[in-house]
Amino acid sequence: MPPLERNARGLGEAGAPGPASEPTLASLPADAGLPDPATLGENRAVRSTAAESAELREARIAWWREARFGLFIHFGLYAIPGRGEWVQWNEQIPVEDYARLADQFTLRDFDAGAWADVARAAGMRYTVLTARHHDGFALFADEGNAFTSVAAAARRDVVRDYVDAVRAAGLRVGLYYSPMDWRFPGYILPDLQRASAVAMREQYHRQMDTLLAHYGKLDVVWFDGGENDWLSFGGDWKGAKWEKRPAGQARRGGFDWEHDAVYRRLRELQPDALINGRADMPADFHSREGDKALGDFDNQRPWELCTTLAGAWGYQPDKEPKSLEACVRLLVKVAGRDGNLLLNVGPAPDGRIAPAQVARLREIGDWLGRHGESIYGTRGGPFLPGDYGVSTHRDRTVYLHILDWPGDGAALRLPAPPCRILRVTRLGGGAVEFRQGEDALELVVPTADRDELDTILVLELDRAAAELPLLAVPVALRPQG
Ligand code: GLC
Repeated sequence: MPPLERNARGLGEAGAPGPASEPTLASLPADAGLPDPATLGENRAVRSTAAESAELREARIAWWREARFGLFIHFGLYAIPGRGEWVQWNEQIPVEDYARLADQFTLRDFDAGAWADVARAAGMRYTVLTARHHDGFALFADEGNAFTSVAAAARRDVVRDYVDAVRAAGLRVGLYYSPMDWRFPGYILPDLQRASAVAMREQYHRQMDTLLAHYGKLDVVWFDGGENDWLSFGGDWKGAKWEKRPAGQARRGGFDWEHDAVYRRLRELQPDALINGRADMPADFHSREGDKALGDFDNQRPWELCTTLAGAWGYQPDKEPKSLEACVRLLVKVAGRDGNLLLNVGPAPDGRIAPAQVARLREIGDWLGRHGESIYGTRGGPFLPGDYGVSTHRDRTVYLHILDWPGDGAALRLPAPPCRILRVTRLGGGAVEFRQGEDALELVVPTADRDELDTILVLELDRAAAELPLLAVPVALRPQG
């Protein structure tokens, strides 16, 4: 079996490792970080700017891999009606009517420091704020456009407050940006309304330039709408419903976003910023969206699962946060699949995050305070995800996250790794009985010593865990009689 670092992406829950001929980390092609060309439509020009070594990309993304956990913040005018960030589109609110919300956007008691504090308390290491969403309302100063928080009643540059607060808290700074803007008819009919489409593109390039040039070092630039989505005009409009056209059937006509110019500028001004895979430009990591998109183990292409803490991106009152158990288990499952988790909150119109959500985030942070060494700075594997849970590793240590036991009093049976296990302990607890045979590794933890959320066993090996092959764990874990 190939060693861990050489294993390919796309391994299922109890999947077998990929064939040995799959690319190794060091031998990935220069464009390995790009979106799949099949989803790029005709706009391939930008691919030629991707000639960058795998080492360079790995160096750029090292901090992010270690961070593992970030806060996503959807904030904008849509917080006022409180029916989510798609309210304008879903309810077909005329652009002029929606724009009047800016008069109510006062941000009287707004405190970006509170966002940074809660992210820190949650054990998050980076944050991503919607600098501008599809409604076109920018949370920053834009000389060419008055639809901004600076021109609104608030007269505040929210992005400025945010980047300052997040940096002061010692966290990494990310900005979300949506090139498409519902205010431009050219977005819907790019050929017929060419002047409008071109004006929308000019806004995209100008606003990106502003964000890249005037807010200091950005650690993450998080685009939305690429691949087969909004940027490729991949929608089929059925009333107020967005439906995706089949892949490869986007309809952009003669219009081109000219992403390559933005990409060049981005790399010139922010050489270290990480770009997500939704911009139709070379990407540092890929996005999976929603709890259901947790997906497979993948330690080749860096990826991040973004999902909501309380079932909504933009503010919706009365949304209860998911349970602590659901949040912790999700974070653990993501880390064990070698990904990052970006957990979203949608603050209320005054910028406040609902107290129940703040409380939940603090609980997650408490859990990480006690168990963070098994998450931060680890990589997924070598035991692949299975019915039992997942594993992570760092140096000569493997953390086994047992989320579900085969039965009371039963031992957990896993495939034996080809190395010597020197010691097994419970994280924060005592020694654990284990038997390492030719084929199987058995671990015995009395019911009283198990943790409802996640029983974490620390396996100390006689060699670096990264040298091991990935180990598929059979679906059915056989309890020991
Ligand atoms: C979905 C939503 C969008 C949101 C994004 C976050 O695409 O439609 O509004 O910003 O998810 O990933």
